[in-house]
Amino acid sequence: MLNLASDTEAGWVQRVEQRLDHLLLDHAHCEKKAASTAINLIFRYQMRPEMVRPLSELAREELQHFELMLDVLEARGIPFDILQPSPYAGELMACVRKGEPQRLMDTLLVLSLIEARSCERMKRLSEELSDPELRALYKDLLASEARHHHGYVDLCTGYYGREATRARLKELAAEEARILDGAPRDQVRMHT
Ligand SMILES: [Fe+2]
Ligand SMILES: [Fe+2]
Repeated sequence: MLNLASDTEAGWVQRVEQRLDHLLLDHAHCEKKAASTAINLIFRYQMRPEMVRPLSELAREELQHFELMLDVLEARGIPFDILQPSPYAGELMACVRKGEPQRLMDTLLVLSLIEARSCERMKRLSEELSDPELRALYKDLLASEARHHHGYVDLCTGYYGREATRARLKELAAEEARILDGAPRDQVRMHT
């Protein structure tokens, strides 16, 4: 349903639980990045009115998630600090083909996969974390991320049709699984 080509490894939650502060900080940065990416797309594709409104709604929701995570950090005494982004999103964006219309298609699908992976991981966090407050937080958030995944796929389907979207999504999902598999295991992040 989320169109991912792999499942997160067993034991991932146990691994992140050892540096929960890092996971929460990284998650806050991910929400900020998701909002700014959607806003950048509004600027780049402002001649496409059918994209502008859903992206604006998405950016607003991601900023609400960002503020929620700032609250979580503050409540736990974790300073909101600079964090070098994990290579995951950058490596995935490098799969985007140059030149339109491929560039838009790949951008929408890569972003859909990042949302899907966040959702898959939040589901695991909502089931396996030992802290009940955080389990509840992730249970609340994962439905939005699933919606964001489908929103990006639907935009792509509207432009390029079901078959072309499916085919390219399958290729990019395989890349996503490969990139995640090669991610450094020594860092605790949402996407490592
Ligand atoms: Fe979010
Ligand atoms: Fe999202």
